[in-house]
Amino acid sequence: MKIIGTGSALPKKVVTNDMLSEFLDTSDEWIVPRTGIRSRHIITDEKIEDLGAKAALSALEMSGLKPEEIDYCICSNVVSEYVTPGLGCVIGAKIGLKCPCVDINCACPGFIYALDIAETHYLAGKAKNVLIICAEQPSRMCDWSDRSTCVLFGDGAGAVVLGPGENIKGIKLHSQLDSNTIWERQSLMPTPYYLGDNSAVGLQMKGREVFKFAVTASTTDVEDLLEELGMTKNDVSWYIVHQANLRIIDAIKQYMGEPDSKFPVNISDHGNSSSASCTILLDEFNRKGCFKEHDVLVFSAFGAGLLSAVAVVEW
Ligand code: COA
Repeated sequence: MKIIGTGSALPKKVVTNDMLSEFLDTSDEWIVPRTGIRSRHIITDEKIEDLGAKAALSALEMSGLKPEEIDYCICSNVVSEYVTPGLGCVIGAKIGLKCPCVDINCACPGFIYALDIAETHYLAGKAKNVLIICAEQPSRMCDWSDRSTCVLFGDGAGAVVLGPGENIKGIKLHSQLDSNTIWERQSLMPTPYYLGDNSAVGLQMKGREVFKFAVTASTTDVEDLLEELGMTKNDVSWYIVHQANLRIIDAIKQYMGEPDSKFPVNISDHGNSSSASCTILLDEFNRKGCFKEHDVLVFSAFGAGLLSAVAVVEW
């Protein structure tokens, strides 16, 4: 497949580190050197489905395709107000899709997992034009009294339209399954019979372990896939790395021995927007005209699961 349209949408409320320090024992001086984050967009009166719809419509407009020309829609989302139907169906109904819509929850690498499903459907002859929407509101997952997690995240949506082509050169998915390093539990409807614990627990994360996993998984994934494809780092024009933490991105850059100029970043004013992160970054730099035809983009992302993934895509 080939990326023929990108879009993104952000909540209007911008929350700075100083605003967080009004109710949390934290500071800009603590957050910036450890994460690179200065501010983030946080949902107030917006709905995540409206941000997803806006991002999708903007990607469709760029692609020149109408909603009814999309054959398959994959929505990457960790949490929405809808238990059912899937968020992809809710967004699809808003923008006039006529195709099947599926949701996936693969946490922060969700975009690359969606890209893998899209390419597989395309190669099987089951879909020609695919819409991927990554719509995330991690602010609704955090415990806002826990300074070690809530300062890291921001909300938003990104979307990509894929059409026919041979531009996806390779995708590699990786797992190191473990449900104790990043997790959150929601409470479900009570029943007269259920005997288990039904209490909600806000996002829990072992920050240092996640940091190590992220750097190791990303560098290993990228090196392995480039080698499998018979490519070298010299062939890579851009690394679109999940915007979780500037120090993680810096560590990946250093390990790979690659220059700053190949790593677009927007974490400073977005924070970690889970699977939306790579698609928002892609759209922002695409709209700045950064990517040229035949540029090689390497997407790399990692997160809960623990899951990671890499994709090599020719522009
Ligand atoms: N403000 C002020 N102090 C904070 C704080 C905050 N926002 N968050 C944590 N601290 C404190 C801790 O309470 C701890 O204090 P203590 O020593 O008195 O107990 C101290 O800072 C060190 O905490 P620690 O968790 O060891 O810090 P760290 O250097 O590992 O940095 C992260 C924490 C979260 C920034 C870092 O581990 C990280 O970035 N991990 C990756 C997280 C990530 O990107 N996850 C998403 C991946 S998809």
